[in-house]
Amino acid sequence: MEKNNLPIGVFDSGVGGLTVCREIFRNLPNEKIIYFGDTARVPYGNKSQETIIRYSKQIAQFLVNQNVKAIVIACNTASALALDALKDFVDVPVIGVVEPGAVAANKVTRNNRIGVIATAGTISSGLYGRYIRELNPEAQIFGQPCPLFVSLVEEGMIDDPVTIMMIHRYIDGLIEKDDIDTLILGCTHYPLLRTVIAREIGNGITLVNPAYETANALKDLLIREGLESTKKADFHDHDFFVSDGTKKFQEFAKEVLELDIEDAKLKILE
Ligand code: DGL
Repeated sequence: MEKNNLPIGVFDSGVGGLTVCREIFRNLPNEKIIYFGDTARVPYGNKSQETIIRYSKQIAQFLVNQNVKAIVIACNTASALALDALKDFVDVPVIGVVEPGAVAANKVTRNNRIGVIATAGTISSGLYGRYIRELNPEAQIFGQPCPLFVSLVEEGMIDDPVTIMMIHRYIDGLIEKDDIDTLILGCTHYPLLRTVIAREIGNGITLVNPAYETANALKDLLIREGLESTKKADFHDHDFFVSDGTKKFQEFAKEVLELDIEDAKLKILE
């Protein structure tokens, strides 16, 4: 097969990376995806860098063995902690979600005060801040880990009193004390809370969705490398692998993303 028409590997710690797939399907309808969700070892958000690099290399090797032409790290935590290690490890281009999100936030901020909500691992890596300050040394970044959001989203509690209470607890300080005008939704699951967060924190704060920005960045990368697919992909061309619980993955895809994935495959990595 011509290199252009090979699939793109996308991976995440679990189900959340489907928010990135959704944006790729919309923006790049010709591209075939091989998704790997590490549902047996999720969450990544509170694990050490050493562990995240080890898991990410195993998954990248699996994807390379599937003959992918590029790899997208859909997981913010793995992007923050393992991108450089993976770039050295595989021969295909690798992109993460952090840099595209940072570039977009820097474009839209007017007061140079940018909030980032993410897992503890992503916040403590400081990587969103590093990318933003490389572009704009004036920028100030305010990070806030929101560990409960992942479970709330996976429980389907999107517009729920408990979630709304946690939105205020996590985010109000960024607005009232830190005076941010831009907020990066720096975790795979948070774009699914976007409408509720926008409603609860009011107008005037621009929300940045790294999943959307990553699909744009992927498109640029494929054009730059001459790797754009020339054939339209059918939904059944995509392959979905998880390391545990195919049924739960299929249910999440259906309920939250309206994606009917009937044949997710089990693949345990060691
Ligand atoms: N996928 C992770 C991220 O975007 C969230 C879930 C986890 O902690 O593994 O950071």
